[in-house]
Amino acid sequence: MEHRLSRRDVLHAASVALAARPATSLAAEAASPLDDLLGRRRMVRRFKPDPVSTGTVRRLLSAAIRAPSAGHTQPASFVVVRGRDARTALGRAALGQTFVGEAPVVVVACADVSRSKAWYRERAERYGMIDTAFASMCLLLAVVEAGLGACFVGAFDDGEVARLVGLPAHVLPVAVIPIGYPAEAPGRMKLRPLRDVVHHERW
Ligand SMILES: Cc1cc2nc3c(=O)[nH]c(=O)nc-3n(C[C@H](O)[C@H](O)[C@H](O)COP(=O)(O)O)c2cc1C
Repeated sequence: MEHRLSRRDVLHAASVALAARPATSLAAEAASPLDDLLGRRRMVRRFKPDPVSTGTVRRLLSAAIRAPSAGHTQPASFVVVRGRDARTALGRAALGQTFVGEAPVVVVACADVSRSKAWYRERAERYGMIDTAFASMCLLLAVVEAGLGACFVGAFDDGEVARLVGLPAHVLPVAVIPIGYPAEAPGRMKLRPLRDVVHHERW
């Protein structure tokens, strides 16, 4: 005789099976919103010409300033560049990475080292850079959440970028970040396995 399982039987069997598994395995398998966001974050280097609104850029920068900073000195500062010629010039200053100029908006993330120096002497530059890198990462995650794409560009002529966006001497350029609606969808990058990068107690 054919034995048919009712919907209730199936649900009960599923709940028994789930309950039998250790909580840690469940946690590891369920993709959290953070997992999802981190997984979707890739550097994007091709952009649609569609403009990115002032309000959207403001949301991205609001995320950036939530990053932690040494002693809460908040040295991270940003120059928002929309002008076509200025964007092209930034691409040239980024050692010819022309995709920079193709994004409708470019944010130059800078470290106002005078703020770090008020508290930290010889560590000021290091902390300013770290703080601005953290801020940039927050911005990159907000970019993903907004359905945009961006690339953290660190290879550039420091003096030329500083000159192009008029930075005073105590403000260092840390990253040139082109932002726009993505015209490519890069796949996942292969990551080094944890066993290769994690050491216990000592290296
Ligand atoms: C400090 C730093 C400097 C970088 N400079 C550049 C750059 O000049 N040009 C570029 O296209 N990507 C640059 N990148 C992006 C990396 O190439 C990219 O993060 C890496 O290949 C991993 O890819 P993913 O971020 O898409 O996972 C830089 C990233 C970092 C963290």
